[in-house]
Amino acid sequence: MYRIGIIGCGKIAEVRHAPEYAENPNCKLAAFFDEIPGRADSFAQKYGGKAFDTIDELLASDLDAVSVCAANIAHAAISIKALEAGVHVLCEKPMATTLEDCEAMVLAAEKSGKYLMIGQNQRLARAHVKARELIQAGEIGKLLSFRTTFGHPGPEGWTGQKNSWFFDKKRAVFGAMADLGVHKTDLIHFLTGDVITEVTAHVSTLDKKYPDGSPIQVDDNAFCIYRTRGGVIGTMHVSWTFYGNEDNSTILYGTDGIIRCYNDPKYALIVEKKDGSRICYELDQMTSNKEQTSGGRTNTMVIDTFIDCLLKKTPPAISGREAMKAMKVIFAAEKSAEQRYTVTVDQE
Ligand SMILES: NC(=O)c1ccc[n+]([C@@H]2O[C@H](COP(=O)([O-])OP(=O)(O)OC[C@H]3O[C@@H](n4cnc5c(N)ncnc54)[C@H](O)[C@@H]3O)[C@@H](O)[C@H]2O)c1
Repeated sequence: MYRIGIIGCGKIAEVRHAPEYAENPNCKLAAFFDEIPGRADSFAQKYGGKAFDTIDELLASDLDAVSVCAANIAHAAISIKALEAGVHVLCEKPMATTLEDCEAMVLAAEKSGKYLMIGQNQRLARAHVKARELIQAGEIGKLLSFRTTFGHPGPEGWTGQKNSWFFDKKRAVFGAMADLGVHKTDLIHFLTGDVITEVTAHVSTLDKKYPDGSPIQVDDNAFCIYRTRGGVIGTMHVSWTFYGNEDNSTILYGTDGIIRCYNDPKYALIVEKKDGSRICYELDQMTSNKEQTSGGRTNTMVIDTFIDCLLKKTPPAISGREAMKAMKVIFAAEKSAEQRYTVTVDQE
């Protein structure tokens, strides 16, 4: 029975990490820490285990693994501390806020021999897993292009705070581009089995404001044109200003047809062939932020996948090194938007 700690007891810990660990029969929630007093206590009351006053005390409490669910700026320092303490780490996305920090996390994992997994849950959604299988099997011929979108009304609906830290340049560092864009960028790597090596981006704050009417400090929209090493070209639009239903769709266009993921309310995946035939798969639907904050929940498989890695002694497929490839694209997109030219991504 693996002993688990959670560092950062906010929304993602509340709606995903804690309940999914609690449901997994091979682990036990044993320790909690949050920099805001009282938050860790309420998790300990609900799930058992102990609330700690410092991260060091938590890491000294004989844990096997921790989830790092703090604000973006704290991911690297906490993850490295935990790895150096000999504990496996599941860190939320975006992995870190600088490339140097991403590299330091990967190095810390390699030095410690402990696992570092990043919470890129889009890879585990059933329609995405099926789409990758179909692409690999040649179902839509040679992949030519894609269009991926992730948009919702903004993180203030998720955290319930109009002055959310997600809008604070110092704590979030990035806006929608990395918050949502890292999900879809990593997903394109997963679906294509390739890496993005060229980026042209517009990253802007179009509408989102603080309660006093001043614009937020980070971007609320990003529009990117991506090109993979193998020559697949596509677009990504991510947004915190879709003031209606969430859009979490990805469409892949090949020489023999089209695959639509999460682009239809009934069918999670639709294959349209060049000959006019259509195959529809119900699978699951993505749980929107709105559904999750009102108590609706589907298992994201992130926690089960992480615990499975520990059980089977198999390094996570969504490792720090793998997730860093998407982070490199995010940094390149920010540079492209700032300097208004196409940026080449060094993917080794
Ligand atoms: N995988 C996903 O789809 C997904 C969805 C939402 C959020 N996230 C990520 O999860 C992380 C947390 O987001 P959230 O929505 O839960 O935010 P939140 O504000 O609800 O929770 C963050 C918690 O971390 C605590 N915290 C911040 N810095 C800390 C530090 N240095 N040490 C200890 N505690 C600290 C805060 O007090 C707060 O309780 C973010 O990085 C976010 O990008 C991922």
